[in-house]
Amino acid sequence: MIAMKRNILLHPDPRLKKTATAVNDLTDDLRLLADDMLRTMYEAPGVGLAAPQVGVLDRLIVLDCVKEEGEKPRPLIMFNPRVIAASDDLNTYEEGCLSIPDQYADVTRPKIVDVEWIDRDGKTRSETFDGLWATCVQHEIDHLDGKLFIDYLKPLKRQMITRKMVKLKRELARG
Ligand code: NI
Repeated sequence: MIAMKRNILLHPDPRLKKTATAVNDLTDDLRLLADDMLRTMYEAPGVGLAAPQVGVLDRLIVLDCVKEEGEKPRPLIMFNPRVIAASDDLNTYEEGCLSIPDQYADVTRPKIVDVEWIDRDGKTRSETFDGLWATCVQHEIDHLDGKLFIDYLKPLKRQMITRKMVKLKRELARG
């Protein structure tokens, strides 16, 4: 089985604003989609990707926040991920998004989160995430609820980024 690279939707796109549907039946098609998403994420390159970003409105995210050179990759596939507990402690990271290329902004989120999900084999798993992993998993889960990191910014900043993206998409469409 060879994973294929998928097209990543760019903001603004109505599909990025929709709420994704829970996965009830873990089919081979969905497993293949997850593998495709990992390949797409690694090639971008990025540290996380959500199914709505490739135009599929299922609750599925992939991530790998290992950044150190030479460190072993740690690809995670999460179906129906949800935050079951979040710390009061907050953390601010400069976030970006593969659907909003070259735009970055500080976003503040809970520093530590417990997340429960269904893995590629259909097993329920949970884990505590901290630091970049915590930010990344929250960012990706937001995508499943039609929420982008720019939704945390002040309206003026958000509008500025959106205008730049509209211009970029127009240029890309022109070729
Ligand atoms: Ni994103």
